[in-house]
Amino acid sequence: MRSKRNKTIDFTLEEASPELLSQIIHPTDNLQTISNKIINGDSFKVMTQLAPHQVDLALIDPPYNLNKQYDGLNFKKMSTSQYQTYTQKWIDLLKPLLKENASIYVFSDWATSMALAPILEKNFTIQNRITWQREKGRGSQKNWKNGMEDIWFLTANPSDYTFNVDQVKQRRQVVAPYRQDGVAKDWQATKNGNFRDTMPSNFWDDISIPYWSMPENTGHPTQKPEKLLAKIILASSNPNDFIFDPFAGSGSSLVTAAKLNRRYLGIEQSLLYCAWGQYRLNQVKDDPSIQGYTDGVFWERNTLAVQRKIKRQQRASDE
Ligand SMILES: C[S@@+](CC[C@H](N)C(=O)[O-])C[C@H]1O[C@@H](n2cnc3c(N)ncnc32)[C@H](O)[C@@H]1O
Repeated sequence: MRSKRNKTIDFTLEEASPELLSQIIHPTDNLQTISNKIINGDSFKVMTQLAPHQVDLALIDPPYNLNKQYDGLNFKKMSTSQYQTYTQKWIDLLKPLLKENASIYVFSDWATSMALAPILEKNFTIQNRITWQREKGRGSQKNWKNGMEDIWFLTANPSDYTFNVDQVKQRRQVVAPYRQDGVAKDWQATKNGNFRDTMPSNFWDDISIPYWSMPENTGHPTQKPEKLLAKIILASSNPNDFIFDPFAGSGSSLVTAAKLNRRYLGIEQSLLYCAWGQYRLNQVKDDPSIQGYTDGVFWERNTLAVQRKIKRQQRASDE
């Protein structure tokens, strides 16, 4: 029997309400002026139906070059050149949708990156390669266990793009608080500990993958965490900007965009994943919180208890 603390969203299509399913858009609908929706279809066809020059930020989490089952779609590992052709194909469809100052983030693993990087470089300005340190999967007897993913930060224009560095600082607990003439240097002393807000680097070790006790968790095999997407969305877009995700999966980027008051559009080939995404989107108005991001600050891992304590104190002082 499933634990009461297991919050995973994994209902079947038969269990989904007709109302929920009716909220999902289909390629036969008029897609020219559409926003804040998930489209159930093949991105390679649907992208040709969308209005040009509307995307401020594209979040691209394509199938990595691995054998993987995505509810009905069996993605098969390709040769490097085949994967490069596949990548160029979605880039050619994406480009006309982008605004001139758009940013693009592409997720990858280290092996896929070797095929991906030359194609990304040919088409965009590579601004950075972020390493997301994360634990997942079994170890191997004959190789090092993979503990990281790549996130490529690209822009359409080399110098004109949004980057809100002040919105993505990380709050760290200060281990050795330094005082000068009795005054805290670069950190704040609070009842709950000493903290410092640090400049964000391209090494992200403060984000875990969604797991069963988190409300954002679904049955999707490669779901991205909302905290990770929130960093990207806050840094590389502004409120009301248009976020586009052509491989939307369980809707994580769309849900995070909605929580941060951005407009969004996603495409996903699996109706089941669309339904999970739509279910999550419908919950945003009741719970717009993003685990690990509170009061405009990204907290390091394992500080949920402190974050909750601070929230309780704030609520008490507001009353
Ligand atoms: C790596 S997963 C994305 C996961 C997503 N970021 C999330 O957090 O749930 C890639 C997704 O792309 C979908 N997909 C693959 N090819 C597609 C296509 N041609 N059109 C639409 N969706 C596609 C798969 O079904 C899968 O859900």
